[in-house]
Amino acid sequence: MKIIILEDEKQVGIKAADMVEEVIRNNPKALIGLATGSSPIPTYKELIQRKNSGLDFSSITTVNLDEYIGLGGDHPQSYRYFMNDNLFSGLALELKNTHVPRGDGENPENDAMEYEKFLKNIGKRDIQILGIGVNGHIAFNEPEDPLSLVTHVVNLTEDTIKSNSRFFESMDEVPKRAITMGMGQIFNAKKIILIATGKNKAQVVKEFISPDITTNNPSSFLKLHDDVTVICDKEAGKLIAGDI
Ligand code: F6R
Repeated sequence: MKIIILEDEKQVGIKAADMVEEVIRNNPKALIGLATGSSPIPTYKELIQRKNSGLDFSSITTVNLDEYIGLGGDHPQSYRYFMNDNLFSGLALELKNTHVPRGDGENPENDAMEYEKFLKNIGKRDIQILGIGVNGHIAFNEPEDPLSLVTHVVNLTEDTIKSNSRFFESMDEVPKRAITMGMGQIFNAKKIILIATGKNKAQVVKEFISPDITTNNPSSFLKLHDDVTVICDKEAGKLIAGDI
């Protein structure tokens, strides 16, 4: 595992975009795994700038990690909407080449199974971008015993609901369930970038680099993958700066 601590979130975005660019230059038809939330936004801005300066994204395919249950793609807080708004429109991607689990179906368990089948079929991602929750969740794999390998329906924890309420009018409006890739599918990527920015991630980043792996901190399992780069800003990396 490689850990890089940079000055601020802009620098983090540039570094993560460099890694994505390298993948696309090597394989214009790359399969790219994406996350939502605030952590990847500077990376997405940087990728859009690179598209505007000539980098060709037209043949890539993307898959997203998760989606809230109960929100359709036209809901401004749905992850489909977030991706269209923050990345896909800026890269002028054809939406048929972008994949986000369906959140507004009648049978979420079935939609989760269908997404898993689709992911198995489409194969290994060339690169996967991840954020990390303050409780160590990756995608919506919350601290829990046991963790699930495959795409599944999850009940979000109080911590996650509270933390995500910043995007909603009130806590009550935050969906309580989501569809998420499981730990096995997250690992089904040749390279993984974990982005952590801001002082509220400092503690979880410190726990993450401890030698343990535990279902109390799902991100800790990433230490078992052989190509993970953690990119932090100074704030998120402040408790580990002396250790690396
Ligand atoms: C989003 C996702 C989540 C976020 C995590 C951090 O698709 O899977 O695991 O990456 O909640 O969110 P931010 O970046 O908003 O702190």
